[in-house]
Amino acid sequence: MWRYSALLLVVFLLASCERYPSGGDVRIRRDMVDQPSYRPQKDPLPLAEGAVPTIGVEPPVTREASSPAAATPASITQGQKLFVIYCQHCHGASGRGDGPVARKISRPADLTARKYLEARDGLIYNAIRNGGVIMPPLSEALAPAERWRVVDYVRKLQRP
Ligand code: HEC
Repeated sequence: MWRYSALLLVVFLLASCERYPSGGDVRIRRDMVDQPSYRPQKDPLPLAEGAVPTIGVEPPVTREASSPAAATPASITQGQKLFVIYCQHCHGASGRGDGPVARKISRPADLTARKYLEARDGLIYNAIRNGGVIMPPLSEALAPAERWRVVDYVRKLQRP
C-alpha cells in the first residue's frame, strides 16, 4: 500500500513539473510566482507611451487667488463632507487645530485665527494642495474642484 502511495506521489510530482523552453530545466510549477502581477511596495508602473491626463494639467494657483466659483449651500455641504474625512482629525471639527491627531503632532493651524480669516482663498487652497512641514499634501486625495469646496467650508467655519 505504502509503495503504491509513494509511486503515486512521484507520478504526481513529475506531472506537475514543466520543461521550460529557455533553460531546459525541470521545475515544480511556479506560475503563481512567475506572473506579471504587480507586487506590493513596487514603484508605480510607468505611464503608457503617449498617455495624457484626462482632466488636463492644473493651472498654477497663487496664494492671492480668489475661489473661481462663489460658495453655495451645496458647495459648503460637500466641503464639509470632505473636511470631515480629510482635515477634521487634525484641525478639529471647529477648525481650531484641536483634532485627536493634534495631540500627537505639533499643533495644526487654527483655521479660525485672524491670519486665515484675512488670508485669500488661494492660501487655504495651496495649503491643501501642497501641505506644510507636517501637514501632508492632499493633492492626490482631493481634485482641484473638491479643494475649492473645502475652502468654502473653511470660510463657513471662520464666519459661523
Ligand atoms: C496630519 C494632520 C493634518 C491634516 C490631515 C491636515 N492638516 Fe492642515 N495643518 C496641519 C499642521 C500641523 C499645520 C501647520 C503647518 C505644518 O507644520 O504643516 C497645518 C496647516 C494648515 C493651514 C495653514 C497653512 C499656512 O500656510 O499657514 C491650512 C490653511 C490648513 N492646514 C488647512 C487644512 C485643510 C483644509 C485640511 C484638509 C483638506 C488639512 N489642513 C489637513 C496638519 C494637518
